[in-house]
Amino acid sequence: MRKKIVAGNWKMNMDYTLGMALFSEVVNMVHDEVRGDQEVVVCPPFIHLHSLVQLKKSNLKVSLGAQNCHHQDSGAFTGEVAASMIKSVGVEYVILGHSERRQYFAETDELLSEKVKTALRNDLKPIFCIGETLEERNDGNHFSVIKSQLEKGLFSLSDVDFQKVVLAYEPVWAIGTGLTASPEQAQEVHAFIRREVSAKYSPELADEISILYGGSCNPKNAAQLFAQNDIDGGLIGGASLKSRDFVEIIKTFNRG
Ligand code: PGA
Repeated sequence: MRKKIVAGNWKMNMDYTLGMALFSEVVNMVHDEVRGDQEVVVCPPFIHLHSLVQLKKSNLKVSLGAQNCHHQDSGAFTGEVAASMIKSVGVEYVILGHSERRQYFAETDELLSEKVKTALRNDLKPIFCIGETLEERNDGNHFSVIKSQLEKGLFSLSDVDFQKVVLAYEPVWAIGTGLTASPEQAQEVHAFIRREVSAKYSPELADEISILYGGSCNPKNAAQLFAQNDIDGGLIGGASLKSRDFVEIIKTFNRG
């Protein structure tokens, strides 16, 4: 069954106290909002993860995700965090391939492919982000960019592993800019992604996989975006830092 997912990416925001408060509010508010085929994932900075796992304990509808992991299992990599460490505190997801990591930390498709495999080997589910820049869209290259990101980042995975990945289409020009892809623009790309997955793996697998939209998603535009056939939820940045907005976005599913 294809899951509907709303994931919050806090990025480098919220100190420990603020993070605990925000997460408590979200957990208290989403108890009855999340149905069986739906999932809420919160991705705070590393430092919050262990405490938030403890805090959510009784709420099985909310999962936690990290925002990054190293591509090797362990070793002399000062300042880095291993997938096994993230898993060991009870975290289920990890965001990989985010455009901010690609742009500011020079993460290449090849490195990301390694990170995906390391995450999966350690039983973490990747939320794998793909998306074009404004220049690439204006040049009409968005489909080829996305195809290449899929091929290089993910298509060496087995069927069994690919099934564990959540995809997120995040047009770079829409992230944190207030510019959202229109529901039609987003649907067009999501359908393209599903066709590519179908051709590489199978129509059944393509039908199962969740593809989230990300980029200035908010309580006002979420309903129209999530109503599209191939949009299975959202990866939410700015609006995930306000509990009310985040929960409003989650509630969108039940209005559709
Ligand atoms: P935004 O960020 O919602 O603030 O645009 C989304 C993301 O970067 O995941």
